[in-house]
Amino acid sequence: MFYVFPRPEDIAHYVSIQIGQRFIRNNKVVLGLATSSTMKPVYAQLIEFYRQRPCSLDHVHCFNLDEYIGLKAEHPQSYAAYMQKHLYQHLPFVNDQLYLPCGQHWPTEAQCLEISKKIKSLGGIDLQLLGIGTNGHIGFNEPGTSFHSRTHVVTLSEQTRKDNSRFFTDKNEMPTHAVTLGLKDISEAKEVYLLATGKQKAPIMAQLQQAEITETLPASILKKHPNAFFFVDKDAAEQLDPAQCTDYRFLLERSKSS
Ligand code: GLP
Repeated sequence: MFYVFPRPEDIAHYVSIQIGQRFIRNNKVVLGLATSSTMKPVYAQLIEFYRQRPCSLDHVHCFNLDEYIGLKAEHPQSYAAYMQKHLYQHLPFVNDQLYLPCGQHWPTEAQCLEISKKIKSLGGIDLQLLGIGTNGHIGFNEPGTSFHSRTHVVTLSEQTRKDNSRFFTDKNEMPTHAVTLGLKDISEAKEVYLLATGKQKAPIMAQLQQAEITETLPASILKKHPNAFFFVDKDAAEQLDPAQCTDYRFLLERSKSS
């Protein structure tokens, strides 16, 4: 179901509360985390939530979705550096709670699969956050990726390289490959929130709403997930069919009564 929020900050507010409540509940929780611009307000509000309601986070495990290959963890555009800057350095996590695919060296198939196995050994991902690429990728699973895929190395599409090179001052540094959780890993999460904000995401969200479930549109795998929620702001909702959208206030009502 597609839920329409007025602004990106409103999505961030809702999502940060959902995660923050899992912090407070103190039951083991495995989070699947994403990077890039869409997630920045979510993490900013989650840090604020934690500041106001500090608690132990010993029960929280965080897996990152993906990482570029060929960038050192210290490179400002690595996803390891992103997570450190936007979330991890602000919360009292210790290293063995945080799992980030390592992209510094080309990972072997066995090293990739180790990540998928680790997720399983912790009981699976409870809540997976996702952004979406303008070509419908989730994580770095590009169009055509098998729905049965586990953590693997991908060749980034031209579209993705073009979109993401905006973050690199030296465009030549934009990697050609990445390592990502597979679509099977992602779709096994118990609950999934896919967030899309801004006008540039309006066409792909409309395509996703109308699409069949097909490997040519990786995010469409979520349409058969019983607990996948698509959160869009007004701009990203511009081309959606309103008859197939729900106002975000419905979600607020639902979480108040649960
Ligand atoms: C990258 C990430 C994706 C993310 C996408 C969208 O390609 N691998 O996980 O969803 O960017 O990025 P943004 O939120 O900046 O639009």
